[in-house]
Amino acid sequence: MLKTDSCGALRRENVGEIVTLAGWVNKRRDMGGLIFIDLRDRFGLTQVVVDASRSQAAFDLAETIRPEYVLQVTGEVVARLKGQENDKLDTGDIEIAVNEIKILNKSKTPPLLIDRDGGEDETLRLKYRYLDLRRERMQRNIVMRHKAIKYIRDFLDQRDFVEIETPILFKSTPEGARDYLVPSRVHPGKFYALPQSPQQLKQLLMVAGYERYFQIARCFRDEDQRADRQPEFTQLDMEISFVERDNILDLIEELMRGMVKEVGYVPLAWEDFPRLSYNDAVEKYGTDRPDLRYDLEIQNISELAGKTSFAVFANNVAAGKPVKALKAPGLGGYSRKQMNELEDFAKKHGAKGLAWIAIDPESEQAKGFITKFFTTEQLAELFDRMEAQPGDLILVVSDEKLVTREVMGALRTEIAERLGYTEKEELAFCWVVDFPLFEEEQTDGHYAPSHHMFTSPKREHIPLLDSDPHAVLSDQYDLVCNGYEVAGGSIRIHERELQNKIMGMIGFSIEEAKEQFGHMLEAFEFGAPPHGGIAPGIDRIMALMAGEPNIREVMAFPKNQNATDVMADAPSAVARKQLDELHIDLAGKGIANS
Ligand code: AMO
Repeated sequence: MLKTDSCGALRRENVGEIVTLAGWVNKRRDMGGLIFIDLRDRFGLTQVVVDASRSQAAFDLAETIRPEYVLQVTGEVVARLKGQENDKLDTGDIEIAVNEIKILNKSKTPPLLIDRDGGEDETLRLKYRYLDLRRERMQRNIVMRHKAIKYIRDFLDQRDFVEIETPILFKSTPEGARDYLVPSRVHPGKFYALPQSPQQLKQLLMVAGYERYFQIARCFRDEDQRADRQPEFTQLDMEISFVERDNILDLIEELMRGMVKEVGYVPLAWEDFPRLSYNDAVEKYGTDRPDLRYDLEIQNISELAGKTSFAVFANNVAAGKPVKALKAPGLGGYSRKQMNELEDFAKKHGAKGLAWIAIDPESEQAKGFITKFFTTEQLAELFDRMEAQPGDLILVVSDEKLVTREVMGALRTEIAERLGYTEKEELAFCWVVDFPLFEEEQTDGHYAPSHHMFTSPKREHIPLLDSDPHAVLSDQYDLVCNGYEVAGGSIRIHERELQNKIMGMIGFSIEEAKEQFGHMLEAFEFGAPPHGGIAPGIDRIMALMAGEPNIREVMAFPKNQNATDVMADAPSAVARKQLDELHIDLAGKGIANS
């Protein structure tokens, strides 16, 4: 090795040793006859002192050194003078009195400040990702991710799971996104699809008798990017045979608890993850991925509001549309302008309007346009229901069920953000269970699966498939943390007839089903065991564990919001020859000079 120790290793006990370090110049300070260099590697920083009276040659060289030069430094470990120790550094008690310096490589002035967050535009960070990754925060995140993956592998290995790789060049697996396609050179006009997840393959591994499978699997989905979405991302993909729902929930809970405690930077809000039904989640929080770091429960006040003299409420309630209310604690003093902003926000999410009642903090009087339609008793009942205090604001929305849900869920998050509740550094995991098998809204006149088409209805609900499909609940479960869905899974269908039936309801003809999923359907005829599984999204979980606002911060080389790799400039045009080999004609578009 070109070094004897790392830049994070040396302590007071090492004083007197002659050592060689290698790393980058984090900072250089010239103090006349002395030059101080902070030398940095993955493991830390060590202060290096170049004294002309110790080595003139080293001093002369040190004068030419600039930030991010790569150095090899040999010298003696000496104790820092009393009062000059740096307790922020692990190596802060010592420094290296330099005998010799070698410049291993020079560096241009980097476009990013490595030793601090310069608040640069993210595009610059992504373009020079290899420099951004030198930063302490990024190194911490990337190393944490490595430790988490190792924790997962050890945990599952101890429990008899087998890690099995599955193909990347495969066939479309419907997870609800668009596929990335890869044209075949050998089969003109035919395409592989990159897997949106290894869903079918892991089920086939259950048919094959592997019983406990996992894989740190790369998945590919062509969908709109968001803070928590990337076109390629990683799942801890798992499947188990002869399993029941609660076995999977318990196993994942134990895994998450242990991993967060052992390698994460953000503590758990609680040890046991609460389990909410889908219905409770959407009723109380307006979403199936609630942020439980704060209470703010949405109340259904339809019965009370329907009796007031406010015609909108009365008419809506008579028509079966709900009236829902949310308390914004302490926001009763909002100005007209602030209320207008909230109303615009609600409208952006689909509301026709936003009604409100504020309790004046001083006079304790209720104000707001709709107040006059409530009797004194009705107001008292409302405040009682909402546990409202003087100074609080109550927001009320009434619309179609799904619109009300969406608007109230968005308002709940907005209010929490305004009140600073979302800054709380803890991980509030919960399970959402008992999902409906099908989405409430139909697509093209067909039922759309709430999870995916391989998810089993609850056994006792199978008869409802014919009489009332929307009432069928499934054995789907999602793990949610701080408002993000961090894992999804289900008990699967393992009988061919039931799978055929569900595919039909979703809109596949028998021919289409055979063409797309013939291999699955056939496999189910050879003794498929009952099975189920789950796939935690590694990137989302890592971002939460590291306290980062988006998943790009825990990925070494992510794409930007536009699905572009701005460092390598991908996607990019290719040579005509490559296209010809793939039998692709772009009609002149996107062809590089060949
Ligand atoms: P699902 O589609 O719910 O389930 O995905 C599982 C988890 O993967 C993560 N995830 C993503 N992370 C980053 N970027 C994306 N574009 C992205 N899409 C999904 C989420 C999500 O909870 N085959 C099923 C699992 C199963 O049934 O076992 C599946 O893929 O954290």
